[in-house]
Amino acid sequence: MSDTPKLTQRPEWTALQDHRDRSQPHLRELFAADPSRAERYTVRVGDLHIDYSKHLVTDETLALLRDLAAATDVFGLRDAMFRGEKINLTEHRAVLHTALRAPADAVIEVDGENVVPKVHAVLDRMSDFAGRVRSGEWTGHTGKRIKNVVNIGIGGSDLGPAMAYEALRAFTDRDLTVRFVSNVDGADLHEATRDLDPAETLFIVASKTFTTIETITNATSARSWLLAGLGGDEKAVAKHFVALSTNTEKVTEFGIDTANMFEFWDWVGGRYSYDSAIGLSLMVAIGPDRFREMLDGFRLVDEHFRTAPAEANAPLILGLLGIWYGNFHDAQTHAVLPYSHYLSKFTAYLQQLDMESNGKSVQRDGEPVQWQTGPVVWGTPGTNGQHAYYQLIHQGTKLIPADFIGFARPVAELSDDLKAQHDLLMANFFAQTQALAFGKSAEDVRAEGVAEEQVAHRTFHGNHPTTTILATELTPSVLGQLIALYEHKVFVQGAIWNIDSFDQWGVELGKVLAKRVEPALTEGADVPGLDPSTAALVAAYRTLRK
Ligand code: F6P
Repeated sequence: MSDTPKLTQRPEWTALQDHRDRSQPHLRELFAADPSRAERYTVRVGDLHIDYSKHLVTDETLALLRDLAAATDVFGLRDAMFRGEKINLTEHRAVLHTALRAPADAVIEVDGENVVPKVHAVLDRMSDFAGRVRSGEWTGHTGKRIKNVVNIGIGGSDLGPAMAYEALRAFTDRDLTVRFVSNVDGADLHEATRDLDPAETLFIVASKTFTTIETITNATSARSWLLAGLGGDEKAVAKHFVALSTNTEKVTEFGIDTANMFEFWDWVGGRYSYDSAIGLSLMVAIGPDRFREMLDGFRLVDEHFRTAPAEANAPLILGLLGIWYGNFHDAQTHAVLPYSHYLSKFTAYLQQLDMESNGKSVQRDGEPVQWQTGPVVWGTPGTNGQHAYYQLIHQGTKLIPADFIGFARPVAELSDDLKAQHDLLMANFFAQTQALAFGKSAEDVRAEGVAEEQVAHRTFHGNHPTTTILATELTPSVLGQLIALYEHKVFVQGAIWNIDSFDQWGVELGKVLAKRVEPALTEGADVPGLDPSTAALVAAYRTLRK
């Protein structure tokens, strides 16, 4: 047992609880009392204009939250992370995704070795390879130009590049078809390859460990598909398969030449890895220069998080607001609602980043937590959500803090007609946060002549908290800025909750059990220790699949 006081017994925690019990002004009152609130509660980081004025907080709330951050030494842990200390305690690893975007002359040491030159060496190799694929210099086994790239990976080896590819489509080489296969359901690989010519297809097998069953199974099937299409010559593999991994031995065992392997390191967590070699498919799609612009965006927010004072530190503020709702208002979920079609996979990506990092129930020393940790993160792009689940956010019984992300300009390549639609999209964006915050009173509804029996139904209580993140345009740099903002927000929360945000033991049990159950499905083997419910389901499955 450590001597550190329990989080909930800290005076800074109980002060927040008292504060919560004492005052709960409505956002209407808060804005009425302070005309400068919007300005005061806006922070600008790089290209991001972050307005947190529509939150259920006062200066006092924010000061108390910062006191909690100070008491739990969030900035101390931050500095340890940036220094390369092994803050991933259960895996005894450094947490250095920030080194992936460090400038070439930076010095960041792990076990006495500066890792920055290695990072840049891999980036240079990736750039060279991506350039050769894009120019047509790298050809397939038969000499044909590569026109299709299929990334095979799952979790952090899929969600990041897949999300970023969608986000930056306007910057991609439109002559290349880029697809992402993750699901071990054979339908995924089938749909991704059914209309492709193997001679023109490059598979990028992305797996930190190179042991993940879904990825290895799909990669093996992809190799069979390729060889079947190219007459069975094993030599073809070298021109059509590259690997992104930390595990040279397993890559070799799979049959991929290490000359075609792009390396990263155990101090890069899977969900923090798409700016490492794991981003190769993205780099092929958008080109090395755009990829580096994205890294610059990440770095800009890293520097902000590292140096900005607490009062103006955006990841700290957003992290603390999440603590305020999750721990002091019983909010269970957090919605992320991008008003950009290109961010269609953004929230799915954040689900892994946030939920795999902070979905924990023991503290760093193994003691159980006695407070809520990470929220359920969910959401889809607006305005689609408005016509589906926003009803519950506006008038349901749950408190759902939400992030609204929007852009001042549509992407450049849209036609003028389609560009003109952007203002309508953004009108919805602004209208929603206004309606959520300020609602519509019963008096206002009555004043519209609504029949009395309908008034309650048409009243909006408001007071629903939102953050608005506005940027000029969705560029590679802005995407990097957004991702780093969320990475560090998640870090702040994990630090306060005193959990290890960098391991993911919770996914292990299911993997082990799947391995144990599989022989029962394929060979009908007995599986000792199956519970009665699962045993009956397995028996039913075996009967039905005949
Ligand atoms: O199962 C969870 C997980 O370990 C994630 O953390 C990771 O991103 C994913 O699996 C894929 O792992 P790998 O890159 O080693 O194939």
